[in-house]
Amino acid sequence: MTLKAMVIGGTGFLGLNIMEALLQDGASVTCTRRRGSNTIFARRMGVPLVEADLTDEAALADAMRGREMVFMAATPYPRFSSGAREQIEHAVRMAVTCVRAARRARVNRVVFTSSVATVAQPEQDTPATEDAGPPRPELLAASPYFAMKHAAETAALAEARQGPDLVVLNPTGCVGPYDYRVGTGILIVGIATGRMSHYVDGWVDLADVRDVARAHVSAAFRGQAGGRYILSGETVRVGVLLRDIARRLDTPFHCQELSPAEAIAFADREEERSRRDPRSGRALLSRALVDILLEGGRVDSARARAGLGFHPRPLGEALDNAINWYRRNGFLRPAAPATATMAS
Ligand SMILES: NC(=O)c1ccc[n+]([C@@H]2O[C@H](COP(=O)([O-])OP(=O)(O)OC[C@H]3O[C@@H](n4cnc5c(N)ncnc54)[C@H](OP(=O)(O)O)[C@@H]3O)[C@@H](O)[C@H]2O)c1
Repeated sequence: MTLKAMVIGGTGFLGLNIMEALLQDGASVTCTRRRGSNTIFARRMGVPLVEADLTDEAALADAMRGREMVFMAATPYPRFSSGAREQIEHAVRMAVTCVRAARRARVNRVVFTSSVATVAQPEQDTPATEDAGPPRPELLAASPYFAMKHAAETAALAEARQGPDLVVLNPTGCVGPYDYRVGTGILIVGIATGRMSHYVDGWVDLADVRDVARAHVSAAFRGQAGGRYILSGETVRVGVLLRDIARRLDTPFHCQELSPAEAIAFADREEERSRRDPRSGRALLSRALVDILLEGGRVDSARARAGLGFHPRPLGEALDNAINWYRRNGFLRPAAPATATMAS
């Protein structure tokens, strides 16, 4: 029987990929939109769009009626590190509203996209697992990104004790198609355009968004209610990753490495610039990205591999595919044609 699914956040990066995976499996999919959402990619997929906002529980429940599964890929993350308390409260309200609306609409299950940021990084050099507990209190106090993701996930799980079923997915950084707002994709577009002038070294884990999206669909059927699943790919040093991206783009690498304190100050200045003049674009090095890079470590997706059949493809393949998507969609210049070599 055809699965009837709705994707909240289907006009965004992860949501579009989840919709594509659902459509590949023959599901009937609807997608929420807000006034002013960029709907180009969702419309190209032929998905019906329903106007609904996470600030309006009744309208959201109406949009969900008749749908068996809801994919919640719209929990916010902080655009700016200032005003953290309001942003965290907002994220919690969004998560709770989604679960309450799903209960009202008698949806069977919500698949909730969270983040690996809700999982503590162990002190020893062992990979983090779902059982590692929450991030340490000093990190939650210092980083709006970690605090927001942790608070929203905890609130969603608590609210779902009264139903419906909720499965949490905890992806690492995702790369691939439809990152048109250039979130994680800043690592590619920033290097290609030369706009990414600075970085901070640390560990980063990246996965192909197409594999992450497929695991979401699998979680709808095979995920354990109340369960959490880390979706990780490959863990690499940031400096090594950026040089590898430059090589794949066939472009020189001119990024300057910053110390952690310099990176935080740089990100704060960048966010201030972006806040003062939103038309000048998002911060090139956001505070959230700096926090993620400084706190990153190895993570273990054994539970998702065993329980959801999650099989992340090699990072090189994910990066090349993301680069091609940006080229095809006009974010980057096409690759230079290979230089012909004359036979001597
Ligand atoms: N990107 C990654 O690498 C990554 C990695 C791990 C976890 N995640 C998590 O995955 C989730 C989605 O991230 P993303 O990168 O796909 O973000 P994104 O591209 O910015 O998309 C966010 C989506 O949420 C929608 N949305 C925002 N506020 C809403 C509201 N009040 N009501 C209804 N819809 C609303 C947006 O609608 P509009 O189009 O109208 O703005 C958009 O469709 C986030 O929770 C993020 O933390 C992302």
